[in-house]
Amino acid sequence: MAIPGPPPHGGALVDLRVEDGRAVAAAAQELPRWELTRRQRCDLELLATGGFSPLRTFLGRADHASVCTAMRLTTGELWPIPVTLDLPECVVAAASSAGGLTLCARGADLAVLWLREAWRPDRVAEAAAVFGTTDPAHPGVHTLLHETHPWYVSGPLAVLALPTHHDFRSLRHTPAELRRELADRGWDTVVAFQTRNPMHRAHQELTIRAARELGAHVLLHPVVGITKPGDVDPSVRVRCYRALLPTYPPGTVLLSVLPLAMRMAGPREALWHAIVRKNHGATHFIVGRDHAGPGPDSQGRPFYEPSEAQDLLRRHEDELGIGVVPFRQMVFVRELQRHVPEDEVPPGHHCLRISGTEQRRRLAQGEELPEWFTPPEVAAELRRAFPGRTGEAVALLS
Ligand code: ADX
Ligand code: MG
Repeated sequence: MAIPGPPPHGGALVDLRVEDGRAVAAAAQELPRWELTRRQRCDLELLATGGFSPLRTFLGRADHASVCTAMRLTTGELWPIPVTLDLPECVVAAASSAGGLTLCARGADLAVLWLREAWRPDRVAEAAAVFGTTDPAHPGVHTLLHETHPWYVSGPLAVLALPTHHDFRSLRHTPAELRRELADRGWDTVVAFQTRNPMHRAHQELTIRAARELGAHVLLHPVVGITKPGDVDPSVRVRCYRALLPTYPPGTVLLSVLPLAMRMAGPREALWHAIVRKNHGATHFIVGRDHAGPGPDSQGRPFYEPSEAQDLLRRHEDELGIGVVPFRQMVFVRELQRHVPEDEVPPGHHCLRISGTEQRRRLAQGEELPEWFTPPEVAAELRRAFPGRTGEAVALLS
C-alpha cells in the first residue's frame, strides 16, 4: 500500500521489522548479546520505523566518513549526523567470531546485526567535523569523547521488536502511523515544530505565525528521547504540551512525541531534525533562533551563530524536500504587549527576551513565570511539578 504524504528522504520509507521473525529470533538466541545504551535504543527505534530513512542500519565506515566530511551518505543523500553503533572491544571480538550480535533492551531481543564491518573511528576528528569543536563543554562532544565505546560496527540489521514504552503511548506514532493520521485528517500542509522545552510564549507564537503564514496545520513534535542535560523531564513536558493544546483553534494541531536522541549539534542537527520530520509526513519545519543549541563553550561564548541553523537549511532547501520556516529571535515588546521577531520591533520600543534556558533558570530559582513569558496553562503544570520551587510564583500568577 502506498504511504500517504510527501516523499520520504531517499524516496521510500524504511521499515526494518521482519514480517516472520522466527528465523531471526532463533539466530538471536545463538549470538552474543549487547544491551543497548539509551542512545542506541533511541537510534534503533528510528532506524527500525523509517524515521531515519534512507538509513537501513547503523552507518558503515565509508558512510561514516562521508557523513562527517561531506554531510552526505555515499549514495549522495544529505545526512548530517552519524548514527553509529559503538561497542567495547570484547563485544566486537565475540560478535566477529559469531558473525553477528543480538541487540537487546531490558532483556528483550530487539534486533540482530550481522557483522560486516568493525573499526576504531577517530572520534576527535568526528567531533571536529560534526560539532565544529572538540570542546568538552559541548554536550554532544562530551558524549562522543567520554561516553562512547571505541569501536563502531555495521552490517545488515533485522528488527524483531521496537523498544517498549510505558509512557505517552497514545502520543507515539511511527512515521507510517503519523502519515496515516495526517492523511485521515485531510491535512496536506503540515508544519512541524521541534522542542525539548516546556513551550513558552515565543514557541507558541512561532507555531501560530507559521500556521497562519502557510495556511498549515501544526504538528507539535517534541523530543522525549534524550535531550540536553538539565532539561525538564519529558513526563512534565508532555503535561505542559497537552495543557497547551486547547489554546489552539480546534482541529488545527496534533501532538506526537519523538524518541530521538539529540546531539545538540546546532546547524547539522537542525538539518537532521528536518529530514526526520519529513519522514514523519510534515511538509514544513520551523527553525528559530539557536536551534538545537548546545549552550556556551568553555569560554562562555556560543558554539554557533543564532541563525547558522536556518542558513544551512535554506542553502539546502531545494534538495531537502521539506519547506524551511525560519524565524528570527522572538521578543516581547512591552509597548505592544505582544511577541514579534526582533527585526519587526518598532524603533525605540522595549523588548524582553525569552528562552527555554531562562525559563528553566526561573523554575530552578523559584522565580516568577510571568504571563508574557510562559502561557498560564503551561505555568500551572510547571508549578504542580515543581511545587517547592515555584511556590512564590503561585501568588504572583494567580
Ligand atoms: S531545540 O531543539 O532548539 O533545542 P528549543 O525548545 O530550545 O529546542 O527550541 C525549539 C524551537 O524554537 C527551535 O526551532 C528554536 O530555534 C526555536 N526558538 C526557541 N526560542 C526562540 C525565540 N526566543 N525566538 C525564536 N525562536 C526560538
Ligand atoms: Mg533553544
